[in-house]
Amino acid sequence: MCGIVAAAARRNIRDILMVGLYALEYRGYDSAGIALQQDGFLARQRAAGKVKELEALLEASPIDGHCGISHTRWATHGKPNTQNAHPQTAGDQLALVHNGIIENHAALRNELRESGCEFNSDTDTEVMVHLIAQLMGSGLDLFAAVRKAIGRLRGAFAIAVVSAVEPGVVVGARRGSPLVLGIGDGEHFLASDVYPLIAETTRFVYLEEGDVVALNADDYEIRNESDELVTRPVKEVEVTIDAVERGDYNHYMQKEIFEQPQAVAETLEGRLSASRVLPNIFGVGAEEVLGKICQVHIVACGTSYHAGLVARYQMEQLAGIPCRVEIASEYRYRRPVVTDDTLFVVISQSGETADTLAALKHARQAGYTATLAICNVAESSIVREAELVLMTRAGPEIGVASTKAFTTQLVALQLLVLELARLNGVDETRYAGYVADLNHLPELLNQALGLDAEFEALAAAFIEKEDALFLGRGSHYPIAMEGALKLKEISYIHAEAYAAGELKHGPLALVDEKMPVFAVAPDNTLLEKLISNIEEVSARGGELYVIADSKVVSSFGQRHGHIMGLDTGGPLLSPVVMTIPLQLLAYHVAVQRGTNVDQPRNLAKSVTVE
Ligand code: AGP
Repeated sequence: MCGIVAAAARRNIRDILMVGLYALEYRGYDSAGIALQQDGFLARQRAAGKVKELEALLEASPIDGHCGISHTRWATHGKPNTQNAHPQTAGDQLALVHNGIIENHAALRNELRESGCEFNSDTDTEVMVHLIAQLMGSGLDLFAAVRKAIGRLRGAFAIAVVSAVEPGVVVGARRGSPLVLGIGDGEHFLASDVYPLIAETTRFVYLEEGDVVALNADDYEIRNESDELVTRPVKEVEVTIDAVERGDYNHYMQKEIFEQPQAVAETLEGRLSASRVLPNIFGVGAEEVLGKICQVHIVACGTSYHAGLVARYQMEQLAGIPCRVEIASEYRYRRPVVTDDTLFVVISQSGETADTLAALKHARQAGYTATLAICNVAESSIVREAELVLMTRAGPEIGVASTKAFTTQLVALQLLVLELARLNGVDETRYAGYVADLNHLPELLNQALGLDAEFEALAAAFIEKEDALFLGRGSHYPIAMEGALKLKEISYIHAEAYAAGELKHGPLALVDEKMPVFAVAPDNTLLEKLISNIEEVSARGGELYVIADSKVVSSFGQRHGHIMGLDTGGPLLSPVVMTIPLQLLAYHVAVQRGTNVDQPRNLAKSVTVE
């Protein structure tokens, strides 16, 4: 999604903004731009494509300045070309960058046209800059004009604006899209998240919904949605530059795959004793709330939704608690029937996914007993909105394809399952066994990563493929779904996952000797059923690859194709461990196909629009 970096300082900020834009690349974008205040006017450069295209323009025609704004745009309204790139301007006096969508842009555009405004882009953003310019023309200063203008906007936005007539001032506002204020030494910054600024400062103010901020090098002032002057807490952020650098890895995704044992260990750290999930890890008073819960309703998008699907099987099987799982973009427009004592859970890596956030807000009005967020970004909108929170501690995930966020979500959900199981009176020995298992998970993940070379070699067989099927049963069906999603999003190979029992109800028609079929085979009671489904594939000459628990490898024969064994550690851990080979497969296939692994086409890391 789009990204903003802005600064007001006493030094040249061009490099600060450019470094910030590179750090925002992970969010996904298709054009970039910058505007810096000059003496009496604003200088702007924009480029379609990557930040390096913008950098090349700036090298050819440098612009410097102490105050300005910059942006990476992920196209929503209008093509990803230079004309639609941000900053959008009103003449050479006012420039604005925007994340989000203005829903009433068409009506505002008509109104502004009637009063003589000329539009130069197809964006919804351009209406804002003209609206603010008009209000400044009627005598308001930039801060007042922005506050007045946003009162007329419907939709979600974070913006940063500069005017040539107010040197050294940047104004920002947020409603529905995140914006942070960075506090430096005699300088201030704005950005969509903290990562683009951590080389400059570790002190941040997380702006609240409806906040508008005016900043200069020395000071800043925040007004809330009721236009009252407010003070927001300044937080010290612990993210280090190392955490957001690629190090010796070829891609962020590769780094993040290999960070999983550590990320999982950190997600478990301080949350388990030798024999139980520690009380209140979900927040103060959580034990009492969770003790009442008779049903769980999980809502999320994409990979996070897959984590929820795995949890459904485990919740019902281990805790004996009914669990529904739903896609956020569907849930948010439904009128849910909420039964008594239901816990509503949202899962989100970024904590900013627009549909998931809207679903959470919707749920808070719907009469659930409590809402719980499982999230990887502290201070995100979803974390602030939920009553209970369990943070995954995956660390920054930069690759668009989610890897360590997913496995840590699975682990966080397992902590929830175990806590609800305990409160629901599960057999104590069984419970203690699951807790002990969880403590071994990082070690099993390390072993699974040992398959890397095998998958690198295997990947060569797929570079010409255009389709693939993934099969699983029970809690491994969502793992097959996640494997298919990983492969399609980064290698652009069309991949679908099916519950293996569904194969003969349609997808079997696709199977011939050219179709690769991946099956995930854990050591569980469904193994025989899965083998029967796999037989259906081998009988049609399908190209089979079975990823099996080491204990069941001998159940497969040569006719079952390529069998890869790994130690998966039993029913609770197996879905997490089985994820690793599927991630390695997707990664190596994408690398060998030469795609942009970390920033796949058309995708964004943090989906802050509907
Ligand atoms: C995962 O690889 C995807 N990029 C995507 O499906 C992602 O999981 C989804 O957009 C939800 O994001 P969130 O976890 O930040 O809410």
